[in-house]
Amino acid sequence: MIHNALLLRIRLYFCCSFSIMNLSKHLHHKVFQIIAALAAKEQIPSYVIGGFVRDLLLEGAGNTPKDIDIVVVGSGIEMAEKVKQAIGEEVPLSIFRNFGTAMIKWGDTEIEFVGARKESYRRDSRKPLVENGSLEDDQNRRDFTINALAISLNPNDFGDLLDPFGGVKHLEEKLITTPLEPGSTFSDDPLRMLRGIRFATRLGFTIEAGTLDAIHEHRQRIGIVSQERISDELNKIIEAKQPGKGFLLLDQTGLLEIIFPELHQMKGVEEVNTMLHKDNFLHTLEVLDNIALKTDDLWLRWAALLHDIAKPRTRKFEPDTGWTFHAHEFIGAKMIPGIFRRMKLPLNEKMRYVQKLVQLHLRPIVLSQDIVTDAAVRRLIYDAGEDLEDLMTLCEADITSKNPRTVKRHLRNFQVVREKIHELEERDSIRNFQPPISGDDIQKVFGIPPSRPVGLIKNAIKEAILDGEIPNNFVAARQRMLEEGKALGLTVHQELKREKE
Ligand code: CTP
Repeated sequence: MIHNALLLRIRLYFCCSFSIMNLSKHLHHKVFQIIAALAAKEQIPSYVIGGFVRDLLLEGAGNTPKDIDIVVVGSGIEMAEKVKQAIGEEVPLSIFRNFGTAMIKWGDTEIEFVGARKESYRRDSRKPLVENGSLEDDQNRRDFTINALAISLNPNDFGDLLDPFGGVKHLEEKLITTPLEPGSTFSDDPLRMLRGIRFATRLGFTIEAGTLDAIHEHRQRIGIVSQERISDELNKIIEAKQPGKGFLLLDQTGLLEIIFPELHQMKGVEEVNTMLHKDNFLHTLEVLDNIALKTDDLWLRWAALLHDIAKPRTRKFEPDTGWTFHAHEFIGAKMIPGIFRRMKLPLNEKMRYVQKLVQLHLRPIVLSQDIVTDAAVRRLIYDAGEDLEDLMTLCEADITSKNPRTVKRHLRNFQVVREKIHELEERDSIRNFQPPISGDDIQKVFGIPPSRPVGLIKNAIKEAILDGEIPNNFVAARQRMLEEGKALGLTVHQELKREKE
């Protein structure tokens, strides 16, 4: 969404394209005045460039931008040191001598400094050979025309927009294209192929045809990019408002098959005896877009992306029932650690959360179709625990059909499940359920060490509560414990009492 006042300016700029757009009014952050004063005093030409300028033209200027990239014709590190001094308060400065860059963190804003440069690349590395250059050289080396826009911070033309490649026009046309021949841009730094798809997805832009062809042509070059960088871009695509578009572009350019083969294998439909199954790739993207309307949580979105990941492995045509995907939720959950490990995603509670949701993703749907028994709902509440709401969000997103009436009907059934959950929760407090009798209690009562009978009795009590055979309280649980112990031939060693029950 282009900021209205700026949009008007962009339009005016096109009507009278001889005029130069001046954006000085939008440079609110104090650092711009500091750099401008230093640029004038030290005679170091300085510019703000890249994402800040792009986002300023798209969205208008916030008072605390996240990142500001400064390019100076001279030493970026020396400029950063001078700026730090001039700020007059303690701000952290990090210097990266190997890269010739420096970064100041001022409040919530990261200000990065680099000397204007020319870059040349070797075949096997994303790390360029660097030599000093002019502002134009520096704009040339940038990934996309919309990221090569610069604003002068110099005394004679402070605030003027410098746009050698038509970046403003491309913002207006919602177009992603490269300043130089796209093949060399992508071959030099193949991460840019993913960045291009990410920008197209996040901004709702189109990738220019020649640029898209070049990504396809150079797709194998993605092999020199580290997995961490690839996953970082994937996460940013997943975090977009409509992430499905990004995955379609990944597929169209041939990148998906290389970086995410499991997802690529979900593509396509097969027909036996005139019976077709859904295209699971397209269905998955629909679910991902649906869930993106309801949550910004990255891992819940990952669960949506992976919920049917085992469908290609479990697909079977059975003459009586048609296409089946038996146990795809269990096999899918088992595939997740392998995918997370390869993608260098966290192997911690985030991964376990995604696994849990994938494994449980059919349970609420089953409840919405069958006659819902209290016991089945209680088990779902127990198994999902604190992730129940997220599971319901995933399942609702999973309802896709070309027929809006079918979707409506399923959503209505789902509402019944939600009400049932609510009702039972109020009555039974099953979520985060801790059985009213612990393993320790059982050991004390029967005077036995930790052993199989303890587990059997504990489990029998839990099952009885979930099945609704006994209420979820201490008295009923103690009674059931005594019965189960007796059945196992155990005798009571010590009475069990609770202060309050
Ligand atoms: N850049 C580039 N090639 C890359 C990475 C970055 O040419 N592989 C340039 C672009 O000009 C970009 C600028 O460096 O605008 C800053 O990069 P970065 O901070 O990663 O991206 P932004 O464009 O600022 O966008 P965002 O913060 O949304 O990632």
